[in-house]
Amino acid sequence: MTIWELDTPALLIDLDRMEANLERAARYAEGHGLRLRPHTKTHKSPYLGRRQVEHGAAGLTVAKVSEAEVMAADGLGDLLLAYPVWGDAKWSRLTEIAKTAPIAVALDSEEPASGLSRHAVRTGLTIGILAEVDLGMRRCGFPPGQRFRDFTRAVDRMPGLKLEGLMFYPGHVNLAAPNGEEELEAVAAGLAEALDGFRQDGLSTSVVSGGSTPTLYHSHRVPGTTEIRPGTYVFNDRSQVAMGACSWNDCAATIMTTVVSRPSPGSAVIDGGSKTFTSDPVRPQEPGFGSIVGMSAVRFEKMSEEHGVLDLGDHQARPPQIGERLRIVPNHVCVTVNMHSTAHGIRGERVERSWPVKGRGKLH
Ligand SMILES: Cc1ncc(COP(=O)(O)O)c(C=O)c1O
Repeated sequence: MTIWELDTPALLIDLDRMEANLERAARYAEGHGLRLRPHTKTHKSPYLGRRQVEHGAAGLTVAKVSEAEVMAADGLGDLLLAYPVWGDAKWSRLTEIAKTAPIAVALDSEEPASGLSRHAVRTGLTIGILAEVDLGMRRCGFPPGQRFRDFTRAVDRMPGLKLEGLMFYPGHVNLAAPNGEEELEAVAAGLAEALDGFRQDGLSTSVVSGGSTPTLYHSHRVPGTTEIRPGTYVFNDRSQVAMGACSWNDCAATIMTTVVSRPSPGSAVIDGGSKTFTSDPVRPQEPGFGSIVGMSAVRFEKMSEEHGVLDLGDHQARPPQIGERLRIVPNHVCVTVNMHSTAHGIRGERVERSWPVKGRGKLH
């Protein structure tokens, strides 16, 4: 089958590019003695989770219990659930997973830790815990200091839990920004302080989990890190190009669309809007909802749910015709993939294999 036989909009994955992304990250991690635990939130598919393990990943990361269920159901163990899981229903499902697949959880406060502890004791299990520390992201976790130390000591005493180390996420660090280097140095300094507290308290630092896609190849500059969790690196996207984390040739995922209307000489409408791409902007802020492959003068300027409106700009001399297909690199590939039930792996124009995005819409 060729890509021209697929109906649109379609999520296409360039397998050569994706494999190169996986290989490069695996080589980097191995070269720096780091364990690679990719975040599966980007591809949401056990098929690609397995490919990552084949390319040197020591385990996988998920955000939601339902994502962990999807991965575990396909025989993928050694999972890290990097999200503050809350509530009896979720703790109970998590301990069910732990009966068959090794799974650790990153937590940032005592309340969910004691809930999980209760469930672990009830089922006779020991669940590995990473304490999430905030190193500048300002999302979850206490910053290094007394509150963080109080939390880690409390978790260490809870039955059914085994504090294995700590987790941080440097998602705020953009090395293309003027203060990027400073932010990375602050992450390294913050981690050193947090690790110091762990050592003074006699706590385990056997797992120190960090990493992101924009900082992926700088992970060794945060001493003490033992494993990294990049997610977006598998496909990359327009945001990663804007942050200098990759080139256009590293972008493996495109959405193939069809031109369905040419309402004026300067515009074209494609069959994908916010229900195909989502409306995430590029960070740092750049206008437009994606980049049209081979048409850098064309701007993806407006969207409604099922319409994408292109400003043809300088491309008006040879405008795309109704029925013509355009491929678009999305702004933020992780949320775009979550809109599609099937991904098509391609080499050139040939569809080599298609797989279900089994984790899409798994929010619980
Ligand atoms: C906790 C955590 N770890 C790792 C990642 C992966 O980061 P990136 O999207 O930069 O690859 C994310 C992304 O949201 C995350 O939230």
